[in-house]
Amino acid sequence: MSVASFMGMKAENRKIVMVTSYDYPTAAIADAVGVDSILVGDSYGMVILGYENTIPVTVEELLPVCRAVRRGATHPLLIGDMPFMSFQVSPEEAVRTAGRFVKEGGVEAVKIEGGSEASKTVQSISRIGIPVLGHIGVTPQTATLHGGYRIQGRNADSRDKLVADAKSLEEAGVFGIVLEMITEEVARVITETVSVPTIGIGSGRFCDGQVLVLHDIIGLYPNFAPKFAKRYTDVAAMIRQALQNFAADVRNGVFPEEQHVFRMEEDRRAKLDSKRKI
Ligand code: KIV
Repeated sequence: MSVASFMGMKAENRKIVMVTSYDYPTAAIADAVGVDSILVGDSYGMVILGYENTIPVTVEELLPVCRAVRRGATHPLLIGDMPFMSFQVSPEEAVRTAGRFVKEGGVEAVKIEGGSEASKTVQSISRIGIPVLGHIGVTPQTATLHGGYRIQGRNADSRDKLVADAKSLEEAGVFGIVLEMITEEVARVITETVSVPTIGIGSGRFCDGQVLVLHDIIGLYPNFAPKFAKRYTDVAAMIRQALQNFAADVRNGVFPEEQHVFRMEEDRRAKLDSKRKI
């Protein structure tokens, strides 16, 4: 999937499927399933490292994750999420960090959070040829600092600000925009206003595509389940059951069985001989 074909999907009215992945095996599954895009989100910090929010995540932590996902998935458009304080200080630093995501992480594009205030940074990164995905609405990196996640686009002022942010990012050169926790009505207006695809997360049915955190889809994040996410299976329960079975088998001497053990050469030969005699 190239950035051009990703953008083309909006014109062709084909919904874009994006999912997060933070490791080789789930990336390989997502690739085999044919998702359009994989985001190595800074949610990695919460979902995998157990941080309370995304603020502590670093570039150094995310780059090896991008490489692992890249090894697992070659077809979907791979996007690296630029963590908090890796792009805010100056456009120059942002360009340098984006370059590391491409060169060292093997991604095709980067995502940065922020509306019109991020436009100059988006422009600098996209001008040197690195495609940028925008992210407006609830932007977890700063929402955390402001005391929590609040649905965006509940009134006309908020709507106008979000539409202006989306237009400003479009003008700055983003190839798409994540809309997080925006009312369905406003997400629809934004989607109809900008020419680049919108990817919704908790923003209703009218976005050009949808993204979810993989661990919310499979039921593997223990701390909370967002209202907007749909859980398709309960992997935590499967793991719990498997581990309980394993522990019981070990304690009862039921595992390992004959099929799981290795034998000395003589022992194997003796067994074959005794079989032949019979
Ligand atoms: O970090 C992340 O996973 C994200 C998506 C949920 C959009 O930013």
